[in-house]
Amino acid sequence: MKKETVFQARLARHYDELKWLYCELYQNDRAAFDRLCGMLEEKAERRPADLARLDERRLADPDWYKGNSLTGMMMYADLFAKNLRGVQEKLDYVEECGVNCLHLMPLLDMPRVRNDGGYAVSDFTKVRADLGTMEDLEHLTAECRRRGISVCLDFVMNHTSDEHEWALRARNGEREYQERYFFYEDSGIPQQFEQTCPQVFPTTAPGNFTWLPDAKRYVMTTFYPYQWDLNYRNPAVFHDMTGFLLDLANRGIEIVRLDAVPYIWKELGTTCRNLPQVHTIVRMLRMICEIVCPGVLLLGEVVMEPDKVTPYFGTIEKPECHMLYNVTTMATLWHTVAVRDVFLLERQMERLSRLPSEYTFLNYLRCHDDIGWGLEYAALQERGMEEIPHKKYLNDYFTGVYPGSDARGELYNDDPSLGDARLCGTTASLCGLEAAAGRGDRAAVQRAIRCDQMLHGFIFTLSGIPMLYSGDEIGQLNDSRYRDDPRLAADSRYVHRGPFCWEAAARRREQGTAQQALFDWIGRLENIRRENPVFAAGARICPRGTQDSSVLCLVRERGNRRLIAWFHFSPEPVTVLAGEEGAFIDLLAPEEGTIRETVTLPGYGMRWLVPEEREERKG
Ligand code: GLC
Repeated sequence: MKKETVFQARLARHYDELKWLYCELYQNDRAAFDRLCGMLEEKAERRPADLARLDERRLADPDWYKGNSLTGMMMYADLFAKNLRGVQEKLDYVEECGVNCLHLMPLLDMPRVRNDGGYAVSDFTKVRADLGTMEDLEHLTAECRRRGISVCLDFVMNHTSDEHEWALRARNGEREYQERYFFYEDSGIPQQFEQTCPQVFPTTAPGNFTWLPDAKRYVMTTFYPYQWDLNYRNPAVFHDMTGFLLDLANRGIEIVRLDAVPYIWKELGTTCRNLPQVHTIVRMLRMICEIVCPGVLLLGEVVMEPDKVTPYFGTIEKPECHMLYNVTTMATLWHTVAVRDVFLLERQMERLSRLPSEYTFLNYLRCHDDIGWGLEYAALQERGMEEIPHKKYLNDYFTGVYPGSDARGELYNDDPSLGDARLCGTTASLCGLEAAAGRGDRAAVQRAIRCDQMLHGFIFTLSGIPMLYSGDEIGQLNDSRYRDDPRLAADSRYVHRGPFCWEAAARRREQGTAQQALFDWIGRLENIRRENPVFAAGARICPRGTQDSSVLCLVRERGNRRLIAWFHFSPEPVTVLAGEEGAFIDLLAPEEGTIRETVTLPGYGMRWLVPEEREERKG
């Protein structure tokens, strides 16, 4: 079929709804809507042939990403391999990690200094010079595609850097560009916003507005003062930003991470988060991708309380994001490490089990950001744990202040008046590897490794996509050198953004090293998950009570396949009743033979049990 016909057919499918939503948002501006459609046609026309073929393949198998075939890894190109070409040269390593979904952290042009790790884009059409060029990006995505690796990239849509051309022109007094942001002559409206709009970075970037002395204007800056919020009320912003997104898709980006998406619509008298218009825009982007580049997936970055997250999936008839982060589970998991009691995690698993199995989450332990303590405080309260003191306990535990804790994290945005500090650190350092290795305590090192392995095992047990944080596969530790760099010193997230240590990575082949223990373990989790049908899409996962408050049991069922996963959140070994009859074997330790009646778990141990007979029948 001709490209044009394909485009028209796809447009026709969504035309009425798209037009309706657009006209509702943009005061019935039909001329603007026609311009949007024209732009979509142009981008569809420019879609390279091999990507158009990929679109067709994805359309033929629309649930391709929901099963057990994907393992992700997120990384900064420069920290991993200097630049995009470097990443391309290191793809063998990426494949050795079993990774087939590569999330590259922001790499578009950004200011040299004030750039929030790339989340302040100054040109959406250019790659940051030291990382390479758009052509390098295109070569990298093509090579990844050849190897069956899908590349994910951030689309920082809430704001631009103050060095973006639009910002420069706005600052210079050009009204047309001021209208792309939130500009105010005096503090009246900004103050009204401040009354209801909470702060994202209360200590590193207080307030939601920044005064520009040269332009004599206030500009809205929800994040850092150099990240100017875009005004999506202006159709030109929506139009141009959509164009940039489609250009990235046409360069071979298969998964677009919608950065900070809950924030993109602002309204006086509200929190300026998760407003209905945000959902309208995400729904429009979803339709637009289905029209121009249907192979592309949208990953929403919605780091919000549980009730706010799932609406970003939209509905079956009107879907929004394909994937969302399992953020509450991540925070609850770390909470469980600190309290050694699984009750909250159990509740969270119950809550997840009630969601439609079509929902696809990205399961992760660590990412480039801090861990915010977004827990279900009502449930904690029932157990006498109040929010503020409990956050303090968690932070004390994970910064090693709490007696006996080997965790080595750092606080992030500690505002004593709010008692709401968040936490940074690599998985291994938070699990205690850094402290234990530092004092040469071999038993504690083993414990830390088991804890790290068990947490990874947990995210591989869930449905969805396990997303590794580059370096975690070799137990990379915190890197405190950021403190010596005045540009970074105030932002403790850089403690877990150290350069990838290739020397340490080489030790993954040396028996007995922490690198080998973690690397091989994660590899085993991946292989078992990929090969065993119990991990396929559509499984039900429910927690089952155990007699020990530090032991979590999850039953994963799909058809007549069952997996009983056990996780132990305490350092001493424990034996619990299996809770059902029959003989089981541990997929992770088949050499241990048949398990009946009771399950023994080492400190921070885990098991993946399956009924033994099934294994025999299979063989
Ligand atoms: C997202 C990013 C974070 C960044 C923020 C502002 O939350 O994950 O790193 O600071 O957006 O763009």
